[in-house]
Amino acid sequence: MNAVKIKEDVFWVGVNDYITTLFEEMWPIDQEGVSYNAYVINDEKIAVIDTVKSIEQDEYIEKIKSIVGDKKVDYLIINHMEPDHSSGISELLSVYPDMKIIGNKKTFPIMKNFYNIDKNLVEVCDGETLCLGKHTLQFFMTPMVHWPESMVTYDITDKILFSMDVFGSFKTPVGSIFDDENDVPAFEDSIRRYFSCIVGKVAGQALKALEKLGGLDICTICPAHGLIWRSDPGYILDMYVKMSSKVTVPGVVIAYGSMYGCTQQSAEILAIALKNEGVKEVVLYNVSKTDISYIISDIWKYKGLLMGAPAYYGKIFPKMANLLYKLTEIRVDNHKVGFFTDFSWSGGAEKNFTTFIEEAKVDVISDIVKVKGTPNEEDVLALNALAKKLAEELAN
Ligand code: FEO
Repeated sequence: MNAVKIKEDVFWVGVNDYITTLFEEMWPIDQEGVSYNAYVINDEKIAVIDTVKSIEQDEYIEKIKSIVGDKKVDYLIINHMEPDHSSGISELLSVYPDMKIIGNKKTFPIMKNFYNIDKNLVEVCDGETLCLGKHTLQFFMTPMVHWPESMVTYDITDKILFSMDVFGSFKTPVGSIFDDENDVPAFEDSIRRYFSCIVGKVAGQALKALEKLGGLDICTICPAHGLIWRSDPGYILDMYVKMSSKVTVPGVVIAYGSMYGCTQQSAEILAIALKNEGVKEVVLYNVSKTDISYIISDIWKYKGLLMGAPAYYGKIFPKMANLLYKLTEIRVDNHKVGFFTDFSWSGGAEKNFTTFIEEAKVDVISDIVKVKGTPNEEDVLALNALAKKLAEELAN
């Protein structure tokens, strides 16, 4: 894609990444890709907002040159230092060595550590402005969304918010970067998976940032990933407020691990029982077959959560331990949660579930259902009772 005009002298110069398979070397994106959005304001003074991941530097710099021609870039604004947005700084500096780099007091130590850059730096504070000529930019600190140095840039003139990770998503827009030229609902799962896995731990700070930015008159949202919201910025704003506030919808995720199918039988019994109790949306995930990011995304969506795993050498099945680790980090304290285990000669999984309940401050609806091998009649009754209890909790 070429550079794309957003407003009279505001341009997208980002790139689409179809190469990376794991975002942060953790989260699968090979199916949907991700965009690194960067921007140019071609005013009397020229400002570039953010760089892109190092794999696509040439394309990024060519796009900038296609806008500014022989002129020099005056400012590079670094909203966020995570290398998916900052790893092009050195290369851009090599093209425009007099360019000033704008960040805040927490930006520059990270820049020094990553890239050994400590010259041409201009520190800005919360609310400070920068006049480019026609455009005046204002900077707002949004700490911990996603890193301590994170900030956003607001173009007062055109009412554009350059929001870095905030309002971002996985999934590469195809053919057009604008919300009104895309199937927006098709992005919702990717937006939520991105939010829950990347920003979920700091959802409280995200909400504070949204409250802080709520007073701005915003016509266009230009995030660092995903769609540019020029037609309906309220759509992504509303979705982010709900996700940051941990608003859930009725429905249940059943996440289970199973080595030889016994725990899976319990999971399926629970799914049937939930349906019989009138719960329409029930999602069944085998933690060995689905990456935890997709499971976490649906957990962020649905109010009900049932987790089941067998014992493994006196502890929990390791792939479930991985999910518990992440859920402890992001917290699921707004959910109604139940557990089921399976074992042959001695238990183990229930110990990890108990620790998880304590550490993650989980709202548990019932005792753990402990099955030995294949569920027997008594186990089926206990599983049905667990499903019934959860259905009742969701109905309240
Ligand atoms: Fe897209 Fe936190 O970087």
